[in-house]
Amino acid sequence: MKATKLIFPKWINTAVRLSLVGAALTAGTIAVVGKFLTMPETVDVGYQPTQPVPYSHKLHAGEMGMDCRFCHTTVDKADFAAVPPANTCMVCHTAIKKDSDKLAAIRQAFADPNKPVQWTKVHKLPDFVYFSHKVHVNGGVSCVSCHGRVDQMEVVQQQKPLGMAWCIECHKNPENALRPKEFVTKLDWTPPAGTTQQEIGLKIKNENKIHPPVENCAGCHR
Ligand code: HEC
Ligand code: HEC
Ligand code: HEC
Ligand code: HEC
Ligand code: HEC
Repeated sequence: MKATKLIFPKWINTAVRLSLVGAALTAGTIAVVGKFLTMPETVDVGYQPTQPVPYSHKLHAGEMGMDCRFCHTTVDKADFAAVPPANTCMVCHTAIKKDSDKLAAIRQAFADPNKPVQWTKVHKLPDFVYFSHKVHVNGGVSCVSCHGRVDQMEVVQQQKPLGMAWCIECHKNPENALRPKEFVTKLDWTPPAGTTQQEIGLKIKNENKIHPPVENCAGCHR
């Protein structure tokens, strides 16, 4: 009904849907969950918007070897991974390529902080899903597991489906993804010779008592 959609915010619809699923579950209809777990979630894979500045991760994070946290400063401290303000770029670009047309929007934003660069968001979850970068990154999950080889991308592209089935797939067997925390931003890291991902992952999982939500709906829908 059109009127309902205009009057009620989107989360109410979602809350109703979630409680309906909840009711179905308590009635013993596990099939509902099964359906979600097998749904092919490939929506938005390949999404690659053109950005207002032709900023290249391949150059800065790849060839120059800059750490992700130099720019995404909150990624291990907050739920949200901050995209850097123009000031961060101007650390170098007051001198390097200082008259480049490609950096015009950065210089404008630097001169007037009220007009930040309007980057287009690439990865996006619905509002009714709770996600925290800090928990994953500090737990030992690398950016590469969820974003792919950003350090090889000229333009950032979404490479993973980010759907519920995908989240839960990793939560069931996190040992396939866990690595020592100091290597989470080293996207080309591989287990040292003589060990396997499985062994390292299981050790970290057991030592740090890592149990991501799988059947606990409220873990991701708060
Ligand atoms: C010099 C600063 C800088 C460094 C270093 C950097 N980034 Fe970025 N990153 C940006 C900027 C600016 C954007 C927004 C524009 C874009 O999407 O390219 C961005 C966007 C992103 C996005 C997309 C965000 C969205 O909208 O969904 C991801 C993912 C990302 N960076 C991951 C990484 C990873 C992983 C590393 C380390 C390997 C890294 N970045 C290193 C500046 C940086
Ligand atoms: C640590 C220093 C450093 C930082 C910080 C930095 N850059 Fe760069 N950037 C460089 C270097 C070095 C080059 C390559 C210059 C060359 O080709 O001679 C470059 C090149 C570029 C170019 C290409 C310019 C051209 O005319 O070819 C763009 C666009 C750019 N950077 C955007 C950004 C943005 C946006 C940020 C902030 C999110 C940023 N850079 C942060 C060092 C930096
Ligand atoms: C477990 C999966 C996962 C890991 C690990 C991960 N991200 Fe993300 N990232 C996401 C998801 C999902 C989003 C979209 C979040 C949203 O819309 O609420 C996102 C969004 C972003 C954004 C856009 C801003 C934001 O918070 O929405 C940036 C920048 C980013 N990630 C950078 C990184 C960097 C850098 C790392 C590694 C240090 C990293 N991410 C590790 C899943 C992950
Ligand atoms: C590649 C593996 C991986 C993927 C993909 C992944 N997670 Fe996780 N997630 C983990 C691990 C490992 C933990 C446990 C971290 C810890 O306890 O230190 C976790 C924990 C969580 C938690 C618990 C946070 C808390 O406060 O305890 C939530 C919520 C969560 N993830 C949501 C998501 C969502 C939503 C997605 C999909 C968009 C997702 N995760 C994708 C590995 C993953
Ligand atoms: C690991 C995190 C995680 C857990 C645990 C989880 N979900 Fe989800 N759920 C998600 C994500 C992410 C989405 C968004 C999917 C998308 O956008 O395609 C979602 C979407 C949904 C939706 C909306 C589907 C739609 O079409 O809008 C429902 C309903 C839902 N979940 C129910 C549940 C129920 C019931 C449980 C418990 C059995 C549960 N979820 C457990 C992450 C999770």
